[in-house]
Amino acid sequence: MENLVEHSLAADGLAVGYDQREIIHDLSVRIPTGKITVIVGANACGKSTLLKTMARLLKPSRGSVLLDGKSIQSIPTREVATKLGLLPQSPTAPEGITVADLVGRGRYPRTRWIRQWSKADDEAVAAAMTSTDVLEIADRPIDELSGGQRQRVWIAMALAQETDILLLDEPTTFLDLTHQFEVLDLLVDLNKQDDRTIVLVLHDLNQACRFGDHLIAMKDGAIAAEGNPREVITEEVVQDVFGLGVKIVPDPVAGTPMVVPIGRHTTRADAQPASVSSAAAALAASAAANGVCRPTDR
Ligand SMILES: Nc1ncnc2c1ncn2[C@@H]1O[C@H](COP(=O)(O)OP(=O)(O)OP(=O)(O)O)[C@@H](O)[C@H]1O
Ligand SMILES: [Mg+2]
Repeated sequence: MENLVEHSLAADGLAVGYDQREIIHDLSVRIPTGKITVIVGANACGKSTLLKTMARLLKPSRGSVLLDGKSIQSIPTREVATKLGLLPQSPTAPEGITVADLVGRGRYPRTRWIRQWSKADDEAVAAAMTSTDVLEIADRPIDELSGGQRQRVWIAMALAQETDILLLDEPTTFLDLTHQFEVLDLLVDLNKQDDRTIVLVLHDLNQACRFGDHLIAMKDGAIAAEGNPREVITEEVVQDVFGLGVKIVPDPVAGTPMVVPIGRHTTRADAQPASVSSAAAALAASAAANGVCRPTDR
């Protein structure tokens, strides 16, 4: 039987920061191989910093990221890029580049001067563009696209890289609801068909519960909770991590936890507005006291 290589990704005692400011403090995590992991947490808690460090774009000041058990810092860039792909939160494209050219760049780590562009590269690019629904805009410059179209092109580029580990930082940003679900369903397809390990950052907690096998909730550069959606998305954890009062109910479609924020100004749509009913009651009481009858009372 063929001996399949299983890629693994983990972090051990990570500390990461910018200049003198430490953002991630002593963080250790093991990303489950062949599963979909979703990282959630408030703005600025360190999600993108963690993802970039896992992809070797940032160097930790302490601890290490382990790719297949080896420190990622010791692995050559090209080798990292054939095992692990990252879609950053705000990627930038070279000016004037077309959609097809940008997606094709996802193949660069796999081509060398002795291994020219091949039919397999063409096929990988076409497949990535088909699954992200960008074939029709293949010849258009990136700068002229809408935010959602551009986001799908970046996802196509990450897919064209055909790595076993895929890290995506808020891949559904800018997408309408239909395209959000298409992208998330596509990631599930990739995960199921090819056993790919997928890590994504999402702000939509309901989508995190629907699509994540494993959830990591971050707070202030550390892991506040980790486990399956039911273990992580509880009223207590959401209050602790986001400072938001919520009710958790079962998602009527999937049965996974569904977060319903309480908010400060919410009233039930089916309730009699308190102010109207109390005003009506006061009016009726006053009318009765004065011996006044409405026409219908006669
Ligand atoms: N290049 C940088 N230089 C200096 N500070 C940075 C840099 N990038 C991020 N930070 C700071 O690090 C902290 C964590 O940022 P990070 O981008 O990791 O947050 P995040 O959890 O991804 O937030 P969001 O949900 O808004 O994307 C923030 O305080 C941010 O201002
Ligand atoms: Mg971020």
